[in-house]
Amino acid sequence: MAARGEFSSRLGFLMAAAGSAVGLGNIWGFPTQTAENGGAAFVIVYLALAFLLAYPALMAELTIGRAKRANVVDALGHISEGKVAHYIGASVGLAGVLTASLILSFYAILAGWMMSHMVEPITTMVGATDASSWLLSQGPFRDTLFTILFSVLTMLIIVGGVREGIEKWSTRLMPSLLTILIALILYVLLQPGAVEGLQLYLVPDFSRITDPDLLMNAMGQAFFSLSLGVGTMLIYGSYVSEQENLPRLGASLTLIDTGIAFTAGLLILPAMFVAQHYGTPIYNDAGELAAGPGLIFSVLPSVFDSMGGIGPIVAIAFFLLMTIAALTSSISMLEVPVSFVSEHFGVPRKIATFVAGFIILSFSIVIVFNFEAMFGFVADLATVYFEPLIGLAFCVFAGWLWSRNEAMKALASGHPDGEGAWFVKVWPYYVKFVCPTLIIAMLYPTIMGLF
Ligand code: PHE
Repeated sequence: MAARGEFSSRLGFLMAAAGSAVGLGNIWGFPTQTAENGGAAFVIVYLALAFLLAYPALMAELTIGRAKRANVVDALGHISEGKVAHYIGASVGLAGVLTASLILSFYAILAGWMMSHMVEPITTMVGATDASSWLLSQGPFRDTLFTILFSVLTMLIIVGGVREGIEKWSTRLMPSLLTILIALILYVLLQPGAVEGLQLYLVPDFSRITDPDLLMNAMGQAFFSLSLGVGTMLIYGSYVSEQENLPRLGASLTLIDTGIAFTAGLLILPAMFVAQHYGTPIYNDAGELAAGPGLIFSVLPSVFDSMGGIGPIVAIAFFLLMTIAALTSSISMLEVPVSFVSEHFGVPRKIATFVAGFIILSFSIVIVFNFEAMFGFVADLATVYFEPLIGLAFCVFAGWLWSRNEAMKALASGHPDGEGAWFVKVWPYYVKFVCPTLIIAMLYPTIMGLF
């Protein structure tokens, strides 16, 4: 068997893992959820959950991955002795592979929308008005074309493997993403109306903090944003060297991810109020703030339009930012099925990539042609239910089924204080009791609401 891939350095891992974590979830999902859930109250709950729940759950995936050095199915299948544990582990792993694939199938469509909006300012500048209106209106042919383009880009990167594909491209793309984001924020904050958006974003309405919907949304958002509950972080963990201090890498990753989500809020919420200043309605009839596609595809473009000559350039920059963010995430989703198929069945990586990639792409196209019936359903199924449930299963495996000695040894490897570090001592109990309790408590109202 060919040697397994490994990230070349700490920075290589951080770029790749941050590339995975920072995606449409941060730049679109987080600000939208914040706008829908009463502004700053949501931000506070989100930050608390990210560090108190998502970070330790992330450590479960990274630690299992690094210790078992395998794809999610084989890693979970070998967590403890015995046939029953083996089958349960492998089944949870397969559920992860399925969920990663489902997420990629709808994510590629969204990313395709970003690409078509990125091209549109160009057709408008050259006066191709028909092409422009085609690029701006959602329809099965436009969506199929751009979904195919985006999916093929994802496959071409993943074919390259860990260093030449994932690490190389994440390291190239992440700094450009940050540069574009900061430039856009500086511009928007100087526009009229921006301060009102900042207020909504930063001054909390504490009465909403205990709202069960807000809690559930914040947890779902935190899991999605850190790419948890699908095996992405497990497989990235399996490419980290034994010499690295894993709790510290995980903490840096959580900080980067929440930091960028928070920063994206500094762009999107003020931009909404700038748009309002220029005459675009940002509240619907029910008095709620615009969210969802309307926010990205009509509110923000109206800000770009108000900018005069540089508007089209800023629009291209913004949609390029979204496309890059989506691409470094989509590669990490595709890595889950690809690593499983290539390692488990011994299939060459190239074949595994194109087989998995095209099966998922075909499913995306089925969604495109049945958009109303399928899109929301697939997205909710994968992110609201499967991700937290599988995330719960990872915590249960790490806390209950894995021998504590082995888990501590795996976590401590590369830590300067070894098994004496307080985090290494506390974490096994934390994932065993605290994480599952929190996840169940928050999922309970949603699951009960189904009946
Ligand atoms: N974290 C990514 C985002 O915020 C989405 C993602 C989910 C990536 C699951 C990989 C796995 O957009």
